[in-house]
Parts: sequence; C-alpha cells; structure tokens
Amino acid sequence: MHEQQIKTQTAQETIKLAEELATNLRPGDVLTLEGDLGAGKTTFAKGIAKGLGVERTVSSPTFTIVKEYEGEIPFYHMDVYRLENSDEDIGFSEYFNGDGIAVVEWAQFIEDYLPEDRLNINITYVDEHTRNLTFSATSKHFEWVVNELKG
Ligand SMILES: Nc1ncnc2c1ncn2[C@@H]1O[C@H](COP(=O)(O)OP(=O)(O)OP(=O)(O)O)[C@@H](O)[C@H]1O
Ligand SMILES: [Mg+2]
Repeated sequence: MHEQQIKTQTAQETIKLAEELATNLRPGDVLTLEGDLGAGKTTFAKGIAKGLGVERTVSSPTFTIVKEYEGEIPFYHMDVYRLENSDEDIGFSEYFNGDGIAVVEWAQFIEDYLPEDRLNINITYVDEHTRNLTFSATSKHFEWVVNELKG
C-alpha cells in the first residue's frame, strides 16, 4: 500500500487539492472517504466534482445516499452514513463498475461492497481550519494519481 499525507489549511485548499486530483481520474475510478463528522468529506467531494466539470451545485447526499451529476464523465456522490448497521445493497456494483467516478463518504460502512481497487482518503481534524489527508493507493494507477499531487 502506497500512502501520502497532505495537510490543508482551509476548506478552499481542500477543494483545490481534490480538483487537481480529479483531473487524473479515469472512468470507473472509486474514491472512498473516511473521517469524522465535519472532517471535510463533502468539501473534498465538491472539489472532485469541480475538477470533473460538474456545473450543478454539489450538496451532501446524506438523505438520498446517492446523487448523480453530469460532468465530462458522470459523477456519483454517495454518503452511506445511514447504512451503518445495515447490509442493504442500493445497487453499488452499477456505480462502481460504471463509466463514472464514484466518491463514497463513510465508505467503511459498506466495506463488503467496495471494489478492491480504490483510492482511500482519510481526513482528520487538526484544528478549526487544518485537516490532515492521508491518501492510500492500492493500485499502480492510484499510486500515480497520488504522486502527481503537489500538496
Ligand atoms: N482545511 C479544511 N478542509 C476542509 N474543510 C474545512 C477545512 N477547514 C475548515 N473546514 C470546514 O469544515 C467543514 C467540513 O464539512 P463537510 O461537510 O465537508 O464535512 P463532512 O466530513 O462531509 O461531514 P459529514 O460527516 O457530516 O458528512 C466545513 O464547514 C468546512 O468549511
Ligand atoms: Mg459529508
């Protein structure tokens, strides 16, 4: 496993970092986001959407579990927080094996449905505006994506 840590000092910096990362993604890529409430998962997802050319406003899909957006390639934004203690399959494989980019908040709650090949981003709170992002790549492609990040 290849890991890299990057700290951001503002929400805007987290968005910029995700936006930069998104430009190196390819159809079918799955990104999993872990981190406490308010860590910055949705903020990071907004940056991914921006980098993929999504024009609609991206808001948290906590109540719908998944929201689909049109960009240069489709963007699937999921928040599976409500599936903790549930093994409901909302059709994950369609999203994970499709032609879009999937970003999953609280991914640890659907561990059994996640593809092996994915990029995990763990966000931890340092102080009010500082976050530590740990990128863990399990494939050559994601290793490359992570290495391209300037931080
Ligand atoms: N460096 C930073 N990176 C990201 N967000 C930051 C940073 N500094 C401050 N923030 C703020 O922290 C909050 C992060 O909220 P966000 O909704 O992205 O978290 P979340 O992890 O998705 O929470 P939830 O678990 O409720 O879905 C926002 O209000 C954002 O402005
Ligand atoms: Mg969120």
